Amino acid sequence: MTHPISRSKTEITGGAHITRQHDSAHKHVTGSADYIDDMAEPAGTLHGYLGLSDRAHAKIVSLDLDAVRTSEGVVLVLTGADVPGSNDISPTGRNDEPVLCTGEVKFHGQPVFAVIAETRDKARRAAKKAVFVYEDLPHVTDVRAAVDAGYPHVTDPLKLERGDVDTALATAPLRLKGQMSIGGQDHFYLEGHIAMAIPGEDDEVTVWSSTQHPSEVQHMVAHALGTVSNAVTVHVRRMGGGFGGKETQSNQFAAIAAIAAKRLNRAVKIRPDRDDDMIITGKRHDFVVDYDVGYDESGVIHALDATFAARCGFSSDLSGPVTDRALFHADNCYFYQNVRLASRPMMTNTVSNTAFRGFGGPQGMLGGERVIEEVAYALGRDPLEIRKANFYGGPGRDVTPYHQTVEDNIIARIVEDLEASSDYQARRAEILAFNETSPVVRRGIALTPVKFGISFTATFYNQAGALVHVYQDGSIHLNHGGTEMGQGLNTKVAQVLAEEFQVDLDTIRITATTTGKVPNTSATAASSGTDLNGMAAANAAQQIKTRLIGFASEKFSVPPEQVEFIPNHVRIGNELLAFGDFIKMAYQARVQLSAAGFYKTPDIHWNRAEGKGRPFYYFAYGAAVSEVSVDTLTGEYQVDRVDVLHDAGRSLNPALDIGQIEGAFIQGMGWLTTEELWWDDKGRLRTHAPSTYKIPLASDRPPIFNVRLAEWSENREPTIRRSKAVGEPPFMLPISVLEALGMAVASIADYQVSPRLDAPATPERVLMAVERLKALAAGDDDMNRI
Ligand code: MTE
Ligand code: MOS
Repeated sequence: MTHPISRSKTEITGGAHITRQHDSAHKHVTGSADYIDDMAEPAGTLHGYLGLSDRAHAKIVSLDLDAVRTSEGVVLVLTGADVPGSNDISPTGRNDEPVLCTGEVKFHGQPVFAVIAETRDKARRAAKKAVFVYEDLPHVTDVRAAVDAGYPHVTDPLKLERGDVDTALATAPLRLKGQMSIGGQDHFYLEGHIAMAIPGEDDEVTVWSSTQHPSEVQHMVAHALGTVSNAVTVHVRRMGGGFGGKETQSNQFAAIAAIAAKRLNRAVKIRPDRDDDMIITGKRHDFVVDYDVGYDESGVIHALDATFAARCGFSSDLSGPVTDRALFHADNCYFYQNVRLASRPMMTNTVSNTAFRGFGGPQGMLGGERVIEEVAYALGRDPLEIRKANFYGGPGRDVTPYHQTVEDNIIARIVEDLEASSDYQARRAEILAFNETSPVVRRGIALTPVKFGISFTATFYNQAGALVHVYQDGSIHLNHGGTEMGQGLNTKVAQVLAEEFQVDLDTIRITATTTGKVPNTSATAASSGTDLNGMAAANAAQQIKTRLIGFASEKFSVPPEQVEFIPNHVRIGNELLAFGDFIKMAYQARVQLSAAGFYKTPDIHWNRAEGKGRPFYYFAYGAAVSEVSVDTLTGEYQVDRVDVLHDAGRSLNPALDIGQIEGAFIQGMGWLTTEELWWDDKGRLRTHAPSTYKIPLASDRPPIFNVRLAEWSENREPTIRRSKAVGEPPFMLPISVLEALGMAVASIADYQVSPRLDAPATPERVLMAVERLKALAAGDDDMNRI
């Protein structure tokens, strides 16, 4: 069984810092990856569909469901009165979000009843047959109208303040004010929401849910059923994308499927179609930002006073932490000597907005970048110079508006590196020259930086668990609390485990996330999946290794230092054992080969009432240069070239990280350019399908798209293998696209006027900005004419 040390393989196939393909990549592209709708259905499975309100705000005077009940194939119709436990799925415990709405509807498309039928088609047809009688109530759908109507906040606003803002604003040599509108965004995950509930004995139920947060689905299902968490098991193998849209929004589908499954003692599956998914579920918050900035001739900002009002929808959902994170990112990479930032989480009669990649951070950062752009145009300078003049620096210039010191600042180096590698200065000069002589097509270029804080701002979420089993044959079963939504979390955590045990990657089987194996998990969100679950898995592996080392040292009478895990083998003194043989020996000696690992992020704290603390364990950085060309007669444009330099610390898997950066860039570009949500005066969302809501196409990918990792970077904190989170930070890189469009527009008035392009900068909006500047250049000085 043992043999002397010989030349064996010296490397494993996929430890940390090695490029490996996503473990399911081949299954994704061949269609063999199982999503919930691909799973074999238990015999007798029924299908649910939701009946929606068709008023934005109204009392339900009566609801006649007879025609629904008698519709072909209908087995059960559920209303809020049928919820056996609490008719509430509000994630923050505010009791402001019903499973099924009763009494008063608060947005157009709010689920009021559920139909359970033999087929999905029959349920869907029946759901259209309800007869509602309403008494209409006044409604508001957008942020400005909500502010004007004196609508309440859905949650407590936040204020961050440092220094003496009023005095600094009053005494600054220069000052300007403005407003920016920032649009929302639909998640447009390829797999929509879905839940399948399978009843068990007594009060037990098993739910397969497309969720980023299985523990919360478990909790909400138990709450709605009026039972306890140990009766509910939630499984997630993978999602076809989540992007934040499945942090809380899965609860409703899971709860209704579970209620129906228990009532009927049959499996029940619910999957809305795309239009209903877009109407029923929350989106990215749109914002209106008001800013008042004091600065000097060199472009240095002396003071900033800004308010961030957001369309939150009818309930709080995650709007509190989302609008908080907007404020946390309004500084981006810039030191504000005096600053006051306030959030206004506005209630509106629209679907309750929710998490979306960046979680409010992108909106906050975009507001901050607008301020930089304004200062630059006011001074007739390249915005990049203004950025550099305001970067965080050493002591005295390193404290954020939330009083955390920026200790790991590498933005100057990132920007310097990218400025050189992208040939920014020469290209900008060439574009300026081009625009001077080009009558119709105008070009623009912009370099924008990103600094994004990593950690959940609710400190208690920063914990994770993992369960690792080593079987007798040496194969390893990995389970952790994170969920896979395409980002490659499972691959990265498996790499961590492969590295710990020094075994090939295919020794490790990644299994579906389940609340039965790892309890009390946090949502896979805030980009922290690998940071938290990778550490928990490493902790589990270390516990098993400690036992194995103890066993080997005793059995072979060698000191523990002489037991070493080397690629696919274990060296014990002068003996070399194959990993599997060693494990079998340990099993026979009754060594426990399973462990539950745990991790909690150290050194973070946050006092929201005071607006002070260290909410983020560290920051991830990046920068992008985007170049565009605009047809000033039509407003149409294209993104010609993008160069990105991004900081993933010591990347755990460069291919996956670059994939995240490319994907986030394109998704963020969609948010800032073509993806426009539009509600009509009745409060109806009119952009609820790809026919009216335009996400980027493959053909919108910039023809030159250079994405590079900052290979010299390493996390100064002891994170998993010194890597950095990568899921959300690159989403903000395409702010450079919006600014490049702004530059092309600004060329109309010789760069003397801030283009003030709101987001999304659709071709229509670009054209309107062009027209506004043309009018100005022609001497019509009414800036707000259009
Ligand atoms: N990448 C893919 N392919 N699909 C997704 O749904 N979600 C993003 C990001 N990258 C997402 C994605 C969001 S919003 C977050 S918070 C992170 O992944 C979550 O995963 P992580 O913490 O493992 O990075
Ligand atoms: Mo991501 S918005 O934190 O799910």
